[in-house]
Amino acid sequence: MTSSSSITIYRQDYTVPPFLVDHIDLTFDLGPSVTQVKATTRLRHNPESESHDIVLYGEALELVKIVMNGKTLAKSDYATDNGELRIANVPDDVTLVVDTLIHPDQNTSLMGLYLSNGNFFTQCEAEGFRKITWYPDRPDVMATYTVTIRADKEKYPVLLSNGNLVETGDLPNNRHYAVWDDPFRKPSYLFALVAGNLVCREETFKLADGRDVLLQVWVEKNNLDKTAHAMESLKHSIRWDESRFGLELDLDRFMIVAVSDFNMGAMENKGLNIFNTRYILANPRVATDTDYANIESVVGHEYFHNWTGDRVTCRDWFQLSLKEGLTVFRDQEFSADLTGSDSGRAVKRIEDVRTLRQLQFPEDAGPMAHPVRPDAYQEINNFYTVTVYEKGAEVVRMYQTLFGRDGFRKGMDLYFSRHDGNAVTCNDFLAAMADANGRDLSQFERWYSQAGTPRVRLESHYDEKERTLTVSLSQFCPPTPGQTEKQPFLIPFAIGLLDSKGNDMPLRLKGGKDSGTSCILELSDASQTFTFVDVAEKPVISALRNFSAPVILEYEQSDDELLHLLSHDSDHFNRWEAGQRLAARRLVSLTKAVQDGQPLTLDTAFADAFRTVLSDTSLDAALRELALTLPSEMMVAERLDEIDPHAIHQARQFMRRTLAEKLEKEWRDAWDRNRTEGTYRPVPSDAGKRALKNLALSYLLALDNPVYCQMAIEQYNRADNMTDRLAALTSLVHSGCMNRHPEAKALLDDFYREFENEALVIDKWFSLQATSPHAGIETITTLMEHPAFTLKNPNRARSLIFGFCHNNMAQFHAADGSGYEFWSKNLIELDRINPQVAARLARCMDQWKRYIPSLRKPAEQALRHVSEQPLSRDTREIIEKTLS
Ligand code: PHE
Ligand code: ZN
Repeated sequence: MTSSSSITIYRQDYTVPPFLVDHIDLTFDLGPSVTQVKATTRLRHNPESESHDIVLYGEALELVKIVMNGKTLAKSDYATDNGELRIANVPDDVTLVVDTLIHPDQNTSLMGLYLSNGNFFTQCEAEGFRKITWYPDRPDVMATYTVTIRADKEKYPVLLSNGNLVETGDLPNNRHYAVWDDPFRKPSYLFALVAGNLVCREETFKLADGRDVLLQVWVEKNNLDKTAHAMESLKHSIRWDESRFGLELDLDRFMIVAVSDFNMGAMENKGLNIFNTRYILANPRVATDTDYANIESVVGHEYFHNWTGDRVTCRDWFQLSLKEGLTVFRDQEFSADLTGSDSGRAVKRIEDVRTLRQLQFPEDAGPMAHPVRPDAYQEINNFYTVTVYEKGAEVVRMYQTLFGRDGFRKGMDLYFSRHDGNAVTCNDFLAAMADANGRDLSQFERWYSQAGTPRVRLESHYDEKERTLTVSLSQFCPPTPGQTEKQPFLIPFAIGLLDSKGNDMPLRLKGGKDSGTSCILELSDASQTFTFVDVAEKPVISALRNFSAPVILEYEQSDDELLHLLSHDSDHFNRWEAGQRLAARRLVSLTKAVQDGQPLTLDTAFADAFRTVLSDTSLDAALRELALTLPSEMMVAERLDEIDPHAIHQARQFMRRTLAEKLEKEWRDAWDRNRTEGTYRPVPSDAGKRALKNLALSYLLALDNPVYCQMAIEQYNRADNMTDRLAALTSLVHSGCMNRHPEAKALLDDFYREFENEALVIDKWFSLQATSPHAGIETITTLMEHPAFTLKNPNRARSLIFGFCHNNMAQFHAADGSGYEFWSKNLIELDRINPQVAARLARCMDQWKRYIPSLRKPAEQALRHVSEQPLSRDTREIIEKTLS
């Protein structure tokens, strides 16, 4: 686990595999403390390679023997070094039999074969297969698999692997076996095995071509009543991929399995997707509207990987965004389409952009900044990032913005016709898009190769006499680690013009034809000027509509212009954006006022604008809720050169309280009038109402009025669903009510008792306390000692530790450094258990160099302390980059 020297792997060093695999036969004799793995692999020399060496990778394996073409190899027949096993000068065709022993019960990393609640699971992406057997564990080696699983029949009645079930039967000693055959060639990272005491919800489903397929969702027995939504989501996903992209399910059986110990969200293993329970299990009692929405999108995401990931996979791990950026884009479009309305699409877009700005923009501006297609890594697990995923999705979205839905579809069709069954690169995807649309996209490639968030400056001039509007756009991308100079990007810049009544004006570019009321300017130089003609009056510019490119827009617009956009823009995204800009501007000055000890004030015009939005019942509740949610503390921090977490927190609290006071009546009305009727349904319209109602509640609780505490307590007691119950409890805990109302405090215990047996709800219980602005280090330390807390379960560790370190700015940055100390202590401990999860915790300190001086010192101390410990390669890489 500990490595003294870190090896860096470079994209430029890629070489083709010397040997390819046609087929692998795997036999598992499962036992929790010892599992025997026998791998019989047919290898064939790759004519494209100069080397005749077989290179296998392995980690934490007990090698029993290797037999090559019938002959047992002696130790001197091969060389092992640093996880590599090399057999030199091998003939063109070989059969290799490798016998190994592994120890699932000692595997706390949750990579390879491991146990969760007594059942067996595997996780092989990115390089987990090498913890199962010696193998050319790289994504460009694709093979068909036959898998035999043998295990105790009573303890492990269910035996699953990829593909089709071809045989089952009994064995002596109360054991049994199953044989699975996957006819599709796949890289080892898509291999999966599950064995245990599980039950399933199943259904036969008719595909567009008339074939019947078997769909299954496997869970532990007590969770069977929480699988309906996942099954619905799966069926929606299948239909959507058929209709939007003409892509059909290629198997007779598609299985989903939920596991409670899992490092990530879910995994797209061919025909056998494995999910973190939090992205499968739902019923109204335990899951919130957000949980329901996340389940739909993650089920979609993994299903869509079957084509974008499994059928066409990555040549090497630097190409990760080829499958992830594309598949995130696909799941975003899926969720947007399922809302069934324009405002639903806008809500989804706003949420996605909020995530991008809140998490990816800081990454792109920090020590871990890397291109969508990275050039180097020490540990690939550290590159499953918001840049590869979310910025990667924005890059894919830009093709669609440039070429339209039809052009994008043509590019996708060409991509599959060229590359089905192969392991390819981001450039292959770009080439398919370019060729299908007859366009040279060489400049567009910079979105893959250059890190950092480009800034686009807009300046405009209206000539009343000529009736022209000139729009000057210029771009600049700040330096990032290893990249000082950047070349200009190709930026699709969507724009519209509003007249004084708020209507969209017709657009005509000089020398061009009419372009409707919204058009895409293509910015490709460092700076360019565009002239609109026949512009009847001085317009208000609606810039970067629908967030048409992942850039930071620098455009000074007056409060009046922003207020005009907020009330009239036909682009829902930009209406929301205008409100956020108004709020952010004020939060920044309030933060400065806090720092300077000046009195805090909020102007009436702003409060009135919020009032108008809140009372505008022609706007969907979901959109109003988004518009009235203030930019997060993290978003405000992004706009400041130096981060003063306490000042930011106070500024935001002040703004919340003031808006609560000034709009008290309207908040009350919103809370009263957005109750949902009838039984709980997780549909967008109802979810939007609940969101607005619960936002209203949280504003009202900022007033410190016992009446509202009582109202929240009643909402908690009356709630027939987790959304309303959790919102009430969170608002109570995060407000002052908790300390003044013994009744409120009792609810926390009530909640715990009620949901003691629902692990995912207990995670919520930990995290709502960990994120409370009143939860100091003592509260967190007490919670760490709670019998239900464990570092070994990633969801639980995240709920408490990440909740505090990541989502509790005010408390984590305690002036005495106690938050940082807590972070380093737990990071070191977690790293010994699970390096992958620990490395994510390490990222909490990404921004430390921008903290105010009094915090920088203790932050650096904590980082140095961690760096002096023996660390996993994962955590070492992050800490070194953070300190450098
Ligand atoms: N490939 C998975 C997904 O995005 C994520 C994942 C990566 C899961 C690594 C486990 C390990 O769908
Ligand atoms: Zn994915």
